[in-house]
Amino acid sequence: MNFFLSEEHKMIQEAARDFAQKAKAGVIERDTHMTYPTEEVKEMGELGFMGIMTSPDFGGSGLDTLSYVLVMEELSKIDASASVIMSAHNSLALFGIEKYGSEAIKKKYLPQLASGETIGCFCLSEPEAGSDATSQKTTAIDCGDHYLLNGVKNWITNGGKAGVHVVIAQTDREKGHRGINAFVVENSWKGVEIGVKEDKLGIRSSDTHSIIYSDVKVPKENRLGPDGFGFKFAMETLEGGRIGIAAQALGIAAGAYELAVEYAQLRKAFGQPIIEHQGIAFKLAEMAMEIESARMLVYRAAVLKDQGKPYGYASAMAKLKASEVAMQVTIEAVQVHGGNGYVKEYHVERLMRDAKITQIYEGTSEIQKIVLSRNIAKGALQLPI
Ligand code: CAA
Repeated sequence: MNFFLSEEHKMIQEAARDFAQKAKAGVIERDTHMTYPTEEVKEMGELGFMGIMTSPDFGGSGLDTLSYVLVMEELSKIDASASVIMSAHNSLALFGIEKYGSEAIKKKYLPQLASGETIGCFCLSEPEAGSDATSQKTTAIDCGDHYLLNGVKNWITNGGKAGVHVVIAQTDREKGHRGINAFVVENSWKGVEIGVKEDKLGIRSSDTHSIIYSDVKVPKENRLGPDGFGFKFAMETLEGGRIGIAAQALGIAAGAYELAVEYAQLRKAFGQPIIEHQGIAFKLAEMAMEIESARMLVYRAAVLKDQGKPYGYASAMAKLKASEVAMQVTIEAVQVHGGNGYVKEYHVERLMRDAKITQIYEGTSEIQKIVLSRNIAKGALQLPI
C-alpha cells in the first residue's frame, strides 16, 4: 500500500495549484455577478484540463482519474464554479461519448470537446425526475433514420454554454428503465432552446439552465450504446461523476481549512493568536482529521476506477463523506473567522455556500445512502483493500 503521489501526479497538482491562484483574482466578483469564467475555462482548455482523461487519439490529455481528482481538488479550494464546469464537462459529457460513442461520433465530437473549444453538458434531471431518474418525461420517438426529441431538462450545469449535450430520454415507456436511451445533441440544432438561468446560492459563476427540446431531429447514429441502454449509461456516468464531485467537496473543505489556519495564526485575541486558544485549536484539529479521512476515500475511489475495479460503492461513499465534510468544515471555517467570516472578502462564506450543492447534485446524500445500502445488502462489507 502506497500513500504517496508519484512525481507526475505532484507536477499535475502543482500546475493546478498555480492556475487556481491566478483564478483567485476575480473569484469574488464572478460570484457576486454570476459571471461565467470565460478566460479561466479557455486556460483550462490550454492546460489540458478540459479533456484530462480523454485519449490523446481524440485530442485529450490521457491522464488517469487520480490526476483529475488532484486538479479538481486544487481548483475547488479557490473556485468551485470553475471546477464544476470542468467536472460536468469531463465526467458527464466526454466520458460517455468516449466509452459508448461509435468511432465516427468520437471523431466528430471529442476533439473539439477535449480542447475546451466546445463545452459539454449532461441532461438527465427534469422538473419531476431528479433523484428518481427512471421517471423521464422527455421522449425520443424512433422515426426510422432519426429520433424526435421532446421535453424539458432542469438544473443543467454548463447548460447555457454547451455546444454538445448528452441527453437522456424515454424511447419506450412500456419498458421502464430498459426503454431509456442516451443521445448526443448539438445545441445549434433546430428545436433546442436554452431556458432560464438559475440564480443560485453557491457555485454562482457556473452556468445552470433549463433546456427545452421541441421536435429536435436526432440522427440514429447519435444514440450512445445499444437500444435501451440509457439508464445504465446514466448510472455508470454518475458513478464516475461522483468521484469528481467528491473531489470538489474535498477541495472546498481543504480550501476553507487552509484559510482558517492562516487566519487563526494571524488574528490575535486576549493577547495571543487565536490558534493558541483551545476552542479554536480543537476545531482545526477536527477539520484536519475529517479532511484527511475524506481525502483517503476520494483518492481510493479514483484509484479503483484507474485499476479497472468496480468503483460505484467507493464513489458513492467518497461523495457522501466528502460533501458532509465540506459542509461541516466550511461552517467551522466561518466560525474561526468570526465576523470577518461573514463578509465576502475573506472567501469562507462563499466556500460555505458552494459546499451545499455537493450534498445535492449528482445524487443527493440520501441517494448515496441508497447506493451504499444496496451494495451492503449484496455483500459489500467494506471497500476492497
Ligand atoms: N451501473 C450500471 N447499471 C446500474 C447501476 C450502475 N451504477 N445502478 C443500477 N443499474 C441498473 C440495475 O442493475 C438495474 O438493471 P436490471 O434491471 O437490468 O438489473 C437498473 O439499472 C435499474 O436499477 P435500480 O432498480 O437500482 O434503479 P432505481 O430506479 O431504483 O434507481 C438510484 C437507483 C440509485 C436511486 C438511481 O435512480 C439514482 O442514482 N438516482 C439519482 C440520479 C442522480 O444522481 N441525479 C442527479 C442528476 S445529474 C446532475 O446532478 C448533473 C449536473 O449537472 C452536475
